[in-house]
Amino acid sequence: MATTLVQKTSFRLTLPPSPPRLDAFPYWPQSMPEIARKTLLLVYHSWTGATEQMIHAVARGTACEPDLQVRLLRATEAGPDDLLTADGYVFATPENLAAIAGLMKDFFDRSYYGALDQLNGRPYASVICAGSDGSNAARQIARIATGWRLREIAPPLIICTHAQTTEQILAPKTVDAAELAKGEELGAAFATGLAMGAL
Ligand SMILES: Cc1cc2nc3c(=O)[nH]c(=O)nc-3n(C[C@H](O)[C@H](O)[C@H](O)COP(=O)(O)O)c2cc1C
Repeated sequence: MATTLVQKTSFRLTLPPSPPRLDAFPYWPQSMPEIARKTLLLVYHSWTGATEQMIHAVARGTACEPDLQVRLLRATEAGPDDLLTADGYVFATPENLAAIAGLMKDFFDRSYYGALDQLNGRPYASVICAGSDGSNAARQIARIATGWRLREIAPPLIICTHAQTTEQILAPKTVDAAELAKGEELGAAFATGLAMGAL
C-alpha cells in the first residue's frame, strides 16, 4: 500500500506562489481599512413620524454591512460638509403642499452651492411619505439631485399614509410593517452596493 502511494504522488506539483501577506509590505498603510470605509448619509425631516420611521427602517437595513458608516441626520442638523464627506445619500421627506417639506428644502438651499460639482456621480435614493400622492416631492428631489450630478440607484420609495382629513394629517403616524420592510430592503441594497464598490 505504502509503495503505491509513493508512486502515485511521485509527480511534481507546481503550486501557485502563496498570496503575499499584507503586513509583509512596510509601505502598505496599516490604516487602509479605515481609509476605505464608506459612509452613507441619511438626511430626513418628519413632522408626524412616518418619514422618521421609514428612515430608521432604511438605517436598520444597512446593518448587513457592519463596516459601512451610517450617519442619520435631521435636515436641520445637516449641511454641505456632511454631504462632502459621504459616499452615498438617502433623502427622506414628507410631501407637504405638493412639495418637499420646508425644512428639507432649507437643507437643500443651505447645502446646494457648497456641494455643487463636488458630489458628481455619487449614488442616492429618496423616500417620500405622503397622504395620497408624493410624486411632486419625488420630482423635486430628483431635480436637485440632477443639479448635483448624483446617480439615482432606485426609483423613489413613496409611502402612502392615507392621511386625507385634517384629523388624520395631524395625527401621529404608524407605518405598516410591509412598508417598513421596503425601507429595510432599500437600506440593505444600498449598503451592500456601496460596500462592494458596485455603486
Ligand atoms: C401642511 C401639510 C401639507 C400636506 N400636503 C400633502 C400633499 O400635498 N400631498 C400628499 O400626498 N400629502 C400631503 N400631506 C400629508 C403628509 O404628507 C402625510 O401626513 C405624511 O405622512 C407626513 O409625513 P410625516 O409623518 O413624516 O410628517 C400634507 C401634510 C401637511 C401637514
